[in-house]
Amino acid sequence: MKRKRLVEEAVSDSNIFKDESTLFPDYVPEELPHREEEMIRLAKNFRTILKRDNPRSVHIAVVGDPGVGKTSLVKRTMQDLVEVAHDKSINVDFVYYNCHSMRTKASILRHVLTEKFGVQSRGFGEEEILEMIVKRCEKEDLRLIIAIDEANMLKAEDILSIIHANEVFGSGESRISTIIISRTAEWRALLNAPLSGHILDQLNIEGYNKEELMDIFKYRAKLAFWEGVISDEILEMVAEISASTRNARHGIEIMLRAGRIADGLGEHEIKADFIREAKNRVYPELRSDVFYDLRLHELLASLAIARILARPENIQTTIKEAYEEYKLVCEEMGEKPASMPSFRIYLNTLEKVGIIGITVKSLEKGRGRRAKITLYDIPAKIMKERIEALLTKDFLKKHRER
Ligand SMILES: Nc1ncnc2c1ncn2[C@@H]1O[C@H](COP(=O)(O)OP(=O)(O)OP(=O)(O)O)[C@@H](O)[C@H]1O
Ligand SMILES: [Mg+2]
Repeated sequence: MKRKRLVEEAVSDSNIFKDESTLFPDYVPEELPHREEEMIRLAKNFRTILKRDNPRSVHIAVVGDPGVGKTSLVKRTMQDLVEVAHDKSINVDFVYYNCHSMRTKASILRHVLTEKFGVQSRGFGEEEILEMIVKRCEKEDLRLIIAIDEANMLKAEDILSIIHANEVFGSGESRISTIIISRTAEWRALLNAPLSGHILDQLNIEGYNKEELMDIFKYRAKLAFWEGVISDEILEMVAEISASTRNARHGIEIMLRAGRIADGLGEHEIKADFIREAKNRVYPELRSDVFYDLRLHELLASLAIARILARPENIQTTIKEAYEEYKLVCEEMGEKPASMPSFRIYLNTLEKVGIIGITVKSLEKGRGRRAKITLYDIPAKIMKERIEALLTKDFLKKHRER
């Protein structure tokens, strides 16, 4: 083993990372320490769909604060569930959608139809597609589980219509199950009485304490770094910082950034100072990949707002001011600016994704209302830098082709 380790190190070009990608936002680890109870509870809810005859679908909500492992929990548990079902020769399939990139019910349904069943959805309406999915499931004796992450991007009616598809189009059996994943505050805003009536179980996922975070980070560090790169003392430091937000992503992002700092300096270990430096660049509520899911003009709108708010005199801005700046940004990038109504839609999306905050204030003596735009989690200067770094020529080209 030792010899293999030496060879492995020799061919690797980093003194720090054994596998850097295990710290990337979309990586789902094999194990989820301290989430066993939740995994069992989630899985138990699906017992009724595994029945050979007359399966009953279920609709579950997974709710909690940022970085507590909601997405990972659902992906891992469902992957296992599908395997267990196959061992029993029961046909179960799981599809996962993040509504930051898949924004509408229609796009989700079209994707299911095309990817799962190989049927082109062009020319069909939403209801027709839903019916085709249900009929296909019945024909293939398939139980389909659809996870809808960041569900607040959709409307409650959209989710309900997917839930209702079983009754509307099915012949008695119910084939489509859903898992709705959402952050706590957003879930409260989304939930209405009809939706709540269909949710069989709501798992409220709590944040992690320091000891739990320590176990998680030890495990994640082992996957990502060579032995000896990060000491327990340094990991304690990361766990301490993360414990303030109870958010596992917080510490994982710090480890990635600190590792990169060490790597860049040609060091063989991560020092306390690297953690301190990395910590200042991590905004735990904002997923580091959030900008990747934005459409080009949403990015340009965010850049406009970031530029305005990065000026020292500005604490907040208005929609009008942001729109003027956005037009300048478009000009600079060689893009045709969208109309004001479209710009407002971009702003709504940015608010839902959690990049900006919009507060509406009533003006004095019935002089109407004015919306103020602020940034939530990330300093304007950093946001500006990150978006500018993203807007390369290649990126613009790719977006234009979309
Ligand atoms: N128990 C755990 N063990 C190992 N890694 C974990 C655990 N819980 C969370 N993580 C990691 O922490 C990060 C955040 O987890 P995840 O994305 O699942 O959180 P989330 O609750 O979906 O957050 P958000 O609301 O921001 O989407 C991911 O990198 C994930 O792999
Ligand atoms: Mg998530």
